[in-house]
Amino acid sequence: MKKAATPDEFKRAMRRFAAGVTLVTTAGRDGRAGLTATAMCSLSADPPRLLVCVNRDSAPNRAIAAAKRFCVNILGQKHRALALRFAGATGVQGEERFAQGRWGKAATGAPVLIDALASFDCTLADAIESGTHTIFVGDVRAASVATRGSPLVYEGGGFQALAAPKPARPTKRTKPRK
Ligand SMILES: Cc1cc2nc3c(=O)[nH]c(=O)nc-3n(C[C@H](O)[C@H](O)[C@H](O)COP(=O)(O)O)c2cc1C
Repeated sequence: MKKAATPDEFKRAMRRFAAGVTLVTTAGRDGRAGLTATAMCSLSADPPRLLVCVNRDSAPNRAIAAAKRFCVNILGQKHRALALRFAGATGVQGEERFAQGRWGKAATGAPVLIDALASFDCTLADAIESGTHTIFVGDVRAASVATRGSPLVYEGGGFQALAAPKPARPTKRTKPRK
């Protein structure tokens, strides 16, 4: 058996995984910081916990570890530009990333995207180093949810939208037997 899949093999296969897109944000002594992240998932409902995997080389990683709080904001279709901005595509860093979008302050002090599909305001419960990334586990102190909006999805190396389900085809009528 091969020792491990190559990074390229791994990435090519992982691109088929359709993921919701989030902005993970924090605020500390050096101001606000945040990044676009798809490596987020629910950990448990009781206690309410989630986890997010953040590259150790990124500025937001250091900021989250120091501030011990973060907010996970679930993006909708209208947030594509924001997703690119917080992924570094426009070249802006740190506080400057927050010049776009409607931002408020959550109870923990972390920045919250006012019109996110949902937001999870967290205090840091655990930080586990694994290879290039840190797994940040958050205790969810507050969860807010919008009633409208369609999620932004990342799949196949690009942003996608959920397709509306095809209408069910009418079942073929068979002629009544005589
Ligand atoms: C769709 C998408 C998903 C991403 N998901 C993650 C992720 O889950 N974890 C991560 O560390 N970086 C992820 N990134 C990369 C970071 O958003 C990017 O490296 C960011 O600029 C890091 O912040 P910095 O430039 O301030 O260091 C993702 C990028 C994109 C476009």
